[in-house]
Amino acid sequence: MITLDAIRQPVTKELDAYEAFLERQFTAEGDLLNNMLRHALSSRGKGVRPMLVALSAAMNARTSGATGSPRVSLAAMLVEMIHTASLIHDDVIDESDERRGRPSANAIWQSHKAVLLGDYILARNMSIGFESGQFDLVAHICGRMATLCEGELLQADCASKQNMTRNTYLDIIYKKTATLLGVSASAGALAVGATRDKVTTMRRFGEALGMAFQIQDDILDYTPNAETGKPRGNDLREGKITLPLLILLDRADDACRNALLDQLRRCHEDESQVEEIQRIVLDEGALQEAQLVMQGYIERAVRMLSEYPDTPYRTSLIHLCSFVAERNK
Ligand code: FPP
Ligand code: MG
Repeated sequence: MITLDAIRQPVTKELDAYEAFLERQFTAEGDLLNNMLRHALSSRGKGVRPMLVALSAAMNARTSGATGSPRVSLAAMLVEMIHTASLIHDDVIDESDERRGRPSANAIWQSHKAVLLGDYILARNMSIGFESGQFDLVAHICGRMATLCEGELLQADCASKQNMTRNTYLDIIYKKTATLLGVSASAGALAVGATRDKVTTMRRFGEALGMAFQIQDDILDYTPNAETGKPRGNDLREGKITLPLLILLDRADDACRNALLDQLRRCHEDESQVEEIQRIVLDEGALQEAQLVMQGYIERAVRMLSEYPDTPYRTSLIHLCSFVAERNK
């Protein structure tokens, strides 16, 4: 399988510049906040969003000098810190104790402090953005934060009412995940002054990739040998109906559907129900069917790149699509 290091290779210099920029900008006063911020920054994960910004910037730049500009580092910081803050809040909402193989902020400092850490990161992100004077980038990126909240709220509402449909599921994952990947890819193009059409193409590319990314995330929650660093089966414990279970529910007659929903309601306190639903999902081939849906989005994403010439940047973005489809972490 293609590695993230290989994908990152054509923009290593730009990503190193971004890391140095982030270290300089993101500092905190006081021991507690400083420790919390270090924890958040040192457990950032795969860095898919900054990579998307840098590769898109390089692919859309008219001169090579533009690819490592401070605007690219700023765009990468804005998207990655929104993502970081949203996961800190997400772990509070989901009551999840583990993220990327490490204790979550709420597990270490309790929920009320974790919420404040997420708020602090968002507030610092906005002020660094405004101080930079790059208002087009700040508006482009931060203007979509509300969409993430809409997705998360819609998801919470569906989990409590258990009234998920395929369209609602797609709407949720578009809002909570695909939007920010679309923003990342298009912000890279915007940062280097690409035309409006190219910015739109990159947004569509990132959004298709983001849909696939979240579907794969939802598949991995059911996959026995996944290495996500998150507890497997959490979606069921939280009462979330994601694509694999939705596929089963769509196929089932009324009696089976009601039985499955009843089991789902008991997942929060009964681990045997989690295991039972996981077993049915695997036995019924629902993961393979979900993979086909995911693959459709990957193909859409790759098609969006066909208007670009063949360069190492485009190749890396195509490889990123394969990575998302094949990843088990
Ligand atoms: C992870 O989903 C969560 C998201 C992609 C979005 C979270 C958004 C919010 C909490 C809204 C607040 C937004 C901001 C900007 C602070 P998941 O729970 O399916 O994935 P997981 O398994 O990784 O937890
Ligand atoms: Mg979660």
